[in-house]
Amino acid sequence: MRSPLLVFLTELPALAEKPNILQKQKSGTPYSKQKPHESITPMKTPDATRRSFLKTSAATALASAIPLRWVKAEEIPAGRKIKLRFAVASDLHYGQANTPFDQMTGELVTWMNKEKADKGLDALFLNGDLTHDSSASLVTLRDNHLKTLSMPYYCGKGNHDFVDQTPGSPTESWEKIWGHPSNHTVKLGDMVFLIADTTAPAKADAYLAADHAWLQEQLLKHKDAPAVFVMIHIQQRKHKVDGWPEHGVKDEAQVPKAEAVMKLLETTPNVRAVFHGHNHLETSVYVSGERRYFFDSHVGGNWGAKRGYRIVEVYDDHSAVTYQVNGEQGGELNRHVCEAPKK
Ligand SMILES: [Fe+2]
Repeated sequence: MRSPLLVFLTELPALAEKPNILQKQKSGTPYSKQKPHESITPMKTPDATRRSFLKTSAATALASAIPLRWVKAEEIPAGRKIKLRFAVASDLHYGQANTPFDQMTGELVTWMNKEKADKGLDALFLNGDLTHDSSASLVTLRDNHLKTLSMPYYCGKGNHDFVDQTPGSPTESWEKIWGHPSNHTVKLGDMVFLIADTTAPAKADAYLAADHAWLQEQLLKHKDAPAVFVMIHIQQRKHKVDGWPEHGVKDEAQVPKAEAVMKLLETTPNVRAVFHGHNHLETSVYVSGERRYFFDSHVGGNWGAKRGYRIVEVYDDHSAVTYQVNGEQGGELNRHVCEAPKK
């Protein structure tokens, strides 16, 4: 049996890979012109040295925490069959001024429908920031674009997704727009997906902890499910702590609550993976405890890494493989395995 450290070392290249993390968007508004409420720290020039340090320090900090069950992709036993295949995409920012939001959202629909036609796609999870500070845009996005998706889709709320809360309005609540509340559980076969809200109704700079009580209740209810996947728009680890990137929860009142959420996720055995949106620069994975937190770049907006989405394939033994797809140029950016818990 290999030591946890050896398992970690075999995965280190994948963790350090992040090939597009330093690439600035070739067109669109420069970082320095972000609106203040975007709460994005301007990055005028990518600082390779600093990023390298962050990656290294993150890896070092994680070395002792890597659990034994994470293995290399090529170690997947041959013959396993895919039981469920789903995609995660985030940050469409539909309606954002001075961006080709109709084109970029149309590309997402094309990517997803092609995945469905070519390899099969059971569901799409949109992990927040579907729109950009306009409740009316949520309806336009739904009716002009998402209705042409050829697979079921489920929407998590991002900090830029505003509901107007006016009684009787078509956008008075997340549920009225999408048919489910912003904290929502989806079951696909015997697998469970928890979509957790980390935002205020209409306040882009509010980065909140997910609802611990709701998550705990759902995790208890589904404790016998073979796999649970959790969608949380905003990174719960504090902004730039322990080698994690910026744009996480940062308000001191929220930090302990968010840490409690992570502890809950990391101590619940059947949670297989957590997915974050919000940080358009991130395309890969961060690790805490025995849990992996995956990012998926972005679909729209005016900043970030190469646009794209994440694919997750769950096998018949309930292990899973996930990889980021570069939607702009095609191809995988990375690949990680989430092994099934040992019985
Ligand atoms: Fe975003």
